[in-house]
Amino acid sequence: MTDLFTPAKFGAIELANRVVMSSLTRNRAGAGNVPTPLVVEYYRQRATAGLILTEASPICPEAHGYPRTPGIHTPEQIEGWKAVTAAVHAAGGKIALQMWHVGRISHPDLQPGNALPVAPSAIRPAGQTFTGQGMKDFVTPRALETAEIPGLIAAYAQAAQNAMAAGFDGVEVHAGNGYLLDQFLRSSTNQRTDAYGGSKENRARLLLEVLAAVCAAIGNDRVGLRLSPVTPFNDISDAAPQETFNYVIGQLNPLKLAFLDILQGTGGMPQEQWLPFDYGQLRALYSGNLILNNGYDFASGQKALETGAADAIAYGRMLLANPDLVERFRRGAPLNQPDYSKLYVGEEKGYTDYPFLTV
Ligand SMILES: Cc1cc2nc3c(=O)[nH]c(=O)nc-3n(C[C@H](O)[C@H](O)[C@H](O)COP(=O)(O)O)c2cc1C
Repeated sequence: MTDLFTPAKFGAIELANRVVMSSLTRNRAGAGNVPTPLVVEYYRQRATAGLILTEASPICPEAHGYPRTPGIHTPEQIEGWKAVTAAVHAAGGKIALQMWHVGRISHPDLQPGNALPVAPSAIRPAGQTFTGQGMKDFVTPRALETAEIPGLIAAYAQAAQNAMAAGFDGVEVHAGNGYLLDQFLRSSTNQRTDAYGGSKENRARLLLEVLAAVCAAIGNDRVGLRLSPVTPFNDISDAAPQETFNYVIGQLNPLKLAFLDILQGTGGMPQEQWLPFDYGQLRALYSGNLILNNGYDFASGQKALETGAADAIAYGRMLLANPDLVERFRRGAPLNQPDYSKLYVGEEKGYTDYPFLTV
């Protein structure tokens, strides 16, 4: 029977086990948003996971929304990531880059020329964001012109090629958590009247065109996708999520992606409090490899694999605090707890200093 320790092949990527490291933004990049030797060490420590999904990596200068997030659009960033992929591979691991454009979840302080962030529609997110110069109110973004969309799609394809040049085993297109592609997908943030807004077919168009371009650039068997159908993070919602996402999933099948990674539920809440959404429908509609995420522990992860609900489980906070999570699962060993004060700030502390099992 398949369990967390069973090897897997997701497209062209061979996983030694089904414990996937979920994407975790840690804000430790150096000058020029380049991964540093400390970032190399962090990922090297976690290489026994079957597959590492990196922290979200901005695909172009306009894609940035937070300080110190390592990009994939300059030669220096590609060089920085090369050291990460080499270290993970030397330790026997696999690693895919999560490709990110934050859309409206940015601020002029973080944009080239202090421009307005771009989005499907000029709708300001509620709340504030950390810009590196303290917390500031979100601004009303600029709606992308239809004529700008091909350039955006090309930026995704270029970023995927950059990821291959940096030695990654694949990429994960980030279309969740209220960032740009999710802003197009969900009705609360997309009020466009062109071919990229309105109906679910139109709202899904950009994502599907991005995926097609990325698959054409690097091969479909190295491309994954992250979706988060009901996550309200970054002030986003959809009037009919089951309908929207069932449609998206149906469209994915012909692409034969390496994997689909679904962040379930509402984030940070116990499973009983999740918004109603039937993930079983997505599983039934999807013909590829499915990774499930959010709030799993060893037992619930094993159960999801044994019942066939998922093909792998992505663990975020547990791998953050337990670099040797696979071995701890194997032995039933106790787990370190994350230091929440160091999630998005600092250097080694709460990043590369979590203890490994000693015996
Ligand atoms: C510190 C931190 C940073 C995160 N950064 C990202 C990110 O860059 N991309 C992403 O898709 N999800 C991100 N997430 C969400 C995680 O990938 C994951 O979905 C979430 O932590 C739930 O999984 P868990 O219960 O196993 O931690 C982040 C979560 C945390 C705690």
